[in-house]
Amino acid sequence: MEKHNIPFSPPRIDQKIIDEVSAALSSGWITTGPRTKRFEEMLADYTGCGEVLCVNSATAGLELMLRWFGVGPGDEVIVPAYTYAATANVVVHCGAKPVLVDINSEFNIDPRKIREAVTSKTKAIIPVDLAGWPCAYDEINALVKNESVRALFKPASENQKQLGRIMILTDAAHSLGAFYKGIRTGVLSDVTVFSFHAVKNLTTGEGGAVCLNLPGVFDKAGIKDYLRIKSLHGQTKDAYSKSKLGGWKYDIIEPGYKFNMTDFQAAMGIVELQRYDSDMLIRRKQIFELYSRLLSQYEWAILPPFRNGKTESSYHVFLLRIKGLSEEKRDKVIGIMTGKGVSVNVHYIPLPMMTYYKTLGYNINDYPVSLMTYRSEISLPVYYDLTDRNVEIVVRELAGAVEALIGR
Ligand SMILES: Cc1ncc(COP(=O)(O)O)c(C=O)c1O
Repeated sequence: MEKHNIPFSPPRIDQKIIDEVSAALSSGWITTGPRTKRFEEMLADYTGCGEVLCVNSATAGLELMLRWFGVGPGDEVIVPAYTYAATANVVVHCGAKPVLVDINSEFNIDPRKIREAVTSKTKAIIPVDLAGWPCAYDEINALVKNESVRALFKPASENQKQLGRIMILTDAAHSLGAFYKGIRTGVLSDVTVFSFHAVKNLTTGEGGAVCLNLPGVFDKAGIKDYLRIKSLHGQTKDAYSKSKLGGWKYDIIEPGYKFNMTDFQAAMGIVELQRYDSDMLIRRKQIFELYSRLLSQYEWAILPPFRNGKTESSYHVFLLRIKGLSEEKRDKVIGIMTGKGVSVNVHYIPLPMMTYYKTLGYNINDYPVSLMTYRSEISLPVYYDLTDRNVEIVVRELAGAVEALIGR
């Protein structure tokens, strides 16, 4: 039996990355410092969002923003049922209740179902741009500004009073560089949080960024300065400022977190962002197009959305759905492919199927689209170094496995 070696999503580590990380290591400054600042400026420029704060993960960024908004016990935050656990876990960390909502046929939270889930306890909505495909932001933004929804909102913190409505905190862990109706992610909602985890399109090993796009009444630069303090122990000076001559004195204004990014992480991010559009996204797009072309000949293949007018994916993961295959057979397909050395995956097992979320009372039968999607989904590898030949092998092995099982 022919055995391949196609991993699912290895990071792109080349000499440029190694050189820049080495330069950071030998610069004498390895924690948060000049490279993190530069990466923040580059991200602000790239996304068009004036104020960007780098943190050590998207999870940290999401929690930071929920806490900044004053989300806590007694509050509810609306989250899609079909996402990675981090999106909902942060709500639990804050002591609030994640209210899970079903998705639409495009893998993203269904705006109509959000409306049904809003109560007077709702403080935020966390839409997730799954696999890099932006959510329906026109509908979601309009919903929180709608008079009847606003009337339900009961502000309990200064920031909640100032916003005067539910906050939209986008989980853009997958969608750096995607467009919604011609506008880049980062400025599509109140706050957007990116992930630079090892499997993401742009990686710093671990890392994340918070893009503040709050309405004009907010002093975003001031909020960013405050969040920098909140993300580092509540300390009024970071290590870099303290290291400057005479800069030793500082204060602790609150028991803050330890969410800061390091300079050697930022060093990776700087190299990756410099070539993100001109190289990384182009290759990912080619891979999506090739998968689509090769798979469109199969009647059982349901292709994911990735381009529709001015809305365009960041081409993070190729979420294929297969018609006419039971969950058990889908699992067999994955087993066959793994046996042949082709890594595939499932994004995601819906949260109501997870032990912890079941204990909160969630039942997958209340999320029919999530369940149906999960049962038929197989994620195909997409990464910079995946060759066209690799893509052909993935499709050939997949088609062989599916057709051997479909109808049996
Ligand atoms: C949808 C989604 N949200 C949030 C996260 C958390 O990102 P991080 O690992 O940077 O905390 C992930 C990471 O896999 C994710 O896939």
